[in-house]
Amino acid sequence: MQSTLSLVLLGLFCVTLGEEKVFLPPYIQRCDIDEANLTQCIREQIEISLPHFTKGVPEMKVPSLDPVHLDDIKIDGNGLILKFTDAAMHGLSGAELTDLKLNLGEVNEEFSLSFKSNFSLTAQYEVDGRILILPIKGKGDAFVFAQGVSVRIDSKLIHFKNSKGEHLKLITPTYKYDIEKTTFDLKNLFNGNKQLADTTLQFANENWRQLMDELAPPAIKQIVVTCVKAINKFFSNVPIGKLVIGYKERL
Ligand SMILES: *[C@@H]1O[C@H](CO)[C@@H](O)[C@H](O)[C@H]1NC(C)=O
Ligand SMILES: *[C@@H]1O[C@H](CO)[C@@H](O)[C@H](O)[C@H]1NC(C)=O
Repeated sequence: MQSTLSLVLLGLFCVTLGEEKVFLPPYIQRCDIDEANLTQCIREQIEISLPHFTKGVPEMKVPSLDPVHLDDIKIDGNGLILKFTDAAMHGLSGAELTDLKLNLGEVNEEFSLSFKSNFSLTAQYEVDGRILILPIKGKGDAFVFAQGVSVRIDSKLIHFKNSKGEHLKLITPTYKYDIEKTTFDLKNLFNGNKQLADTTLQFANENWRQLMDELAPPAIKQIVVTCVKAINKFFSNVPIGKLVIGYKERL
C-alpha cells in the first residue's frame, strides 16, 4: 500500500518535473479542447503571438523571422540578368493574420494560414540587359518595397511522438501569394548617371509586375520555407497537450 502510494507520488513528481521542462512563451494562452470554437481561440492566440513569435524564441531555438535572410536570387531570361546578394527581407513581424483554418481532431488534419504584410528588401544588386525595351545596367545597393503581400500556406498536419509527448508537424506545405504593388530603388544605376537612372527606374516601377513575376517566386518560397521551419520548431518543442487543455494523446 505504502509503496503504491510512493510510486504514485513519484509518478506525480515526475509528471510535474516533465511539465516544467516544456517552455511556453508567456504571451501564449492555452485554448481548451472543449471550447465552442477551438479554431477561433487558436486564431486569437496566433494574432496575439505573431508580432512576438516573428522576433524569435531563443528558448526554443526559433530564429527571428524579421528579417529573413534570403539566399542569392538570380534571374536570367528575356534579355535581363539581375542578381540580388546579401538580401534581407523585413516585414514579417508586422504581418496581419487574415485567415486560419484548422481541423484539429479530424481524420485528415489540415492547417491553412494566410497573412498580409508590407515587405522591404535590402540587398546588393547587379543588373545588365533590358526591361522590355529599356536598357538597364548597374551595381550597388537595392531597396525593394513590396506593398500588400498576401501569402497563404496550406499544409497537412501529422502527429509524432518524442520524449516530451505528442507533437504536431506541418508537412508538404503549398502556398499562393499576391502582391499589390512594388517599388524598386536601385542605387548607382548607369554608374550614377542620374538622368538615365531616373528614367529607367520610373519605367521599372511602372512595369513592376514584369520584374516581380521572376523575382517574387524565389523570395516568397524562401519566406514560406522559413516560416514553416519556425512553426515546426515551435511544435517540436511544445506537446499538443501543452497547447490545448484537455487534449488526449492518440499516439
Ligand atoms: C469558428 O472560427 C473560425 C475561424 O475564425 C470561423 O471561420 C468559423 O466560422 C467559426 N465557426 C463557428 C461555428 O462559429
Ligand atoms: C503598407 O504600406 C502602405 C503604403 O506605404 C501603407 O499605407 C500601409 O499602412 C502599410 N500597411 C502596413 C500593415 O504597414
